[in-house]
Amino acid sequence: MLTSHSFPPLVIRGRSLLPIVQGGMGVGISAHRLAGSVAREGALGTIASIDLRHHHADLVELCRQSPDRATLEQANLTALAREIHAAKALAEGRGMVAVNVMKAVNAQADYVRVACENGADAIVMGAGLPLDLPDMTQAHDIALIPILSDSRGVALVLKKWMKKGRLPDAVVIEHPAHAGGHLGVANLADLQDPRFDFLRVLEELETVFTSLGLSRQDVPLIVAGGINSHEAVRELLSAGASGVQLGTPFAVTEEGDAHPNFKRVLAEATPDDIVEFVSVTGLPARAVKTPWLMRYLRHETKIRDKLGALKHVCPTALECLSVCGWRDGVEKFGHFCIDTRLAAALRGDVANGLFFRGREALPFGAAIRSVHDLMELLLTGATRPAVAGRWAFSLG
Ligand SMILES: Cc1cc2nc3c(=O)[nH]c(=O)nc-3n(C[C@H](O)[C@H](O)[C@H](O)COP(=O)(O)O)c2cc1C
Repeated sequence: MLTSHSFPPLVIRGRSLLPIVQGGMGVGISAHRLAGSVAREGALGTIASIDLRHHHADLVELCRQSPDRATLEQANLTALAREIHAAKALAEGRGMVAVNVMKAVNAQADYVRVACENGADAIVMGAGLPLDLPDMTQAHDIALIPILSDSRGVALVLKKWMKKGRLPDAVVIEHPAHAGGHLGVANLADLQDPRFDFLRVLEELETVFTSLGLSRQDVPLIVAGGINSHEAVRELLSAGASGVQLGTPFAVTEEGDAHPNFKRVLAEATPDDIVEFVSVTGLPARAVKTPWLMRYLRHETKIRDKLGALKHVCPTALECLSVCGWRDGVEKFGHFCIDTRLAAALRGDVANGLFFRGREALPFGAAIRSVHDLMELLLTGATRPAVAGRWAFSLG
């Protein structure tokens, strides 16, 4: 555990943590090993709840034998419960283990329930406004952390939740111009909008907090997207953030739960290799230009014109999204099976996978280092020599 640094702790629901948060990354990129290792360091580690069955050989086999929606959904819930218990065991009581649930996912209420029932310390909800999260978790003592991108969204959630007698235990403010995965904007043209600038959001929220009779300590703000150095951490924490959240730099750590090829693709990507496009959720997303994505984007207009308005049977039977461009024939959304593509990336299938990634350079360049080394670099600026071959990869 890291103790020698000069930053105040991030305090969430009375727990003092290192001010570095590991963001949830699906499908399976942040499962128990990554989240548990981050928590073990005394920080907040996050399991991405979606489709975790891929990490469990017995559940994959069960789903192969009965590939119906009910079996797949149950397998994912079983996998989530197992991952929470494994992460907590790895953490040995240190830090916090959160579960990330995307609002845009059909099984969101089940994922929230399983997270609460299996001892997760927090629910982190994004990809939609989590207005009903306090109702969904009413009987449980669990931290609630919405992910938003601008001060207007934060103000809306604060007001709605305050009417329910609940404050968020923290809020993640994710910058769509830098972060990986799905981005919190309606369309690609909005990515660079100045309303997302961290310093502006932090300043605007001062006014919002004052008007609502709140102080900064009541709702810690955690900024996310493109944070890749000790200097950036220092600047953002001194500008009023209580913590910083990173995704891509944690995905490529030794403890990251994905195949080594996944980490290599992310770590070796240059700025020209990274692209933004419209996902099947209708939200813009950011990923590496791997062969499948390049093929899809080359034919995107043709696919949209020919197939865009047609409905399709869900290729996996999981029906993972509440609205899916491919299944529901939503013309202006993306048209592919996101679950199949993300699961291929998790397995390290470079030709066929979809590899989400943030836009910025990584703290260790193309090197794969440990969670501890990453935390130490971010908190102190120090780098120690790498130790080779500490972790092996296995699915199941
Ligand atoms: C591979 C990958 C998968 C992601 N999946 C999710 C997800 O399932 N849910 C979510 O809320 N955010 C997701 N994110 C966003 C991260 O949690 C994080 O906030 C973001 O990547 C921060 O930006 P950075 O990658 O520049 O550090 C994902 C990011 C990456 C790189």
